[in-house]
Amino acid sequence: MTAPPLNQRERVKVYDPLVRLAHLVFIGGVAAAWFTRHAPGSWHEWIGYAVMTALALRLLWGFVGTSAARFLRFVRGPSATLRYASELLHGRAPRHLGHNPLGAWMIVALLLTLVVVVVSGWMFTTDRWFGYSWVIRTHEIATWVLFALVPLHVGGVIHATRVHRENLVAAMLHGRKPAAAGDDVPP
Ligand code: HEM
Ligand code: HEM
Repeated sequence: MTAPPLNQRERVKVYDPLVRLAHLVFIGGVAAAWFTRHAPGSWHEWIGYAVMTALALRLLWGFVGTSAARFLRFVRGPSATLRYASELLHGRAPRHLGHNPLGAWMIVALLLTLVVVVVSGWMFTTDRWFGYSWVIRTHEIATWVLFALVPLHVGGVIHATRVHRENLVAAMLHGRKPAAAGDDVPP
């Protein structure tokens, strides 16, 4: 099926600055935390706190933020998600101005995994939880789960970028997407 016509000249604002900045902090922070995981000093913890702050703001923003940031607006139920998955398999997945239903569940998975990573990491720095092997093991396993999810996330982004001929990575940087007939323009 041919991609819906997009008006490449008319662009609508979709992702607000908080969503975009938090995303950059997630990517940079997770990479930096990985490379500092055994480094001397507290670099790893401070980088982790930056990710924790961006994550807390993004989660809050998911309830009180702009239209495309709100979880209740973009997370769809099982039937809509399965329908989208089936359309995707048949090469007829419709284009979404915000996150598509499968991408939305991936976002939920990424955010929840990140919560487990930062909370278990923080727990290991406290007197109460320091030294428990299951705490640091949880931190390590959650990091691996995150590293398994990210290539799927990026794969979905590349697929949608090619099928719908719109640069989603650029949209995540400047916040705007090309308009199509029937698009809702978020407030
Ligand atoms: C941004 C996300 C983070 C990632 C991807 C990450 C990843 C990791 C990894 C892979 C390890 C090595 C585990 C092992 O070899 O057993 C580690 C260790 C650790 N992390 Fe994190 N971490 C993150 C955030 C945090 C945060 C927020 C804190 C605390 C505020 C934290 C505190 C620690 C501590 C205390 C260790 C043990 C260091 C050591 O071996 O001496 N991490 N982290
Ligand atoms: C640690 C790594 C990553 C994490 C935790 C992560 C997390 C997320 C989250 C939570 C969102 C939803 C944005 C929001 O509404 O807040 C998102 C969207 C997005 N991410 Fe990532 N991401 C990661 C890596 C990447 C990488 C490496 C790319 C580059 C290809 C990428 C490209 C995108 C794009 C293009 C979107 C928007 C998708 C859409 O328009 O539906 N992400 N990511």
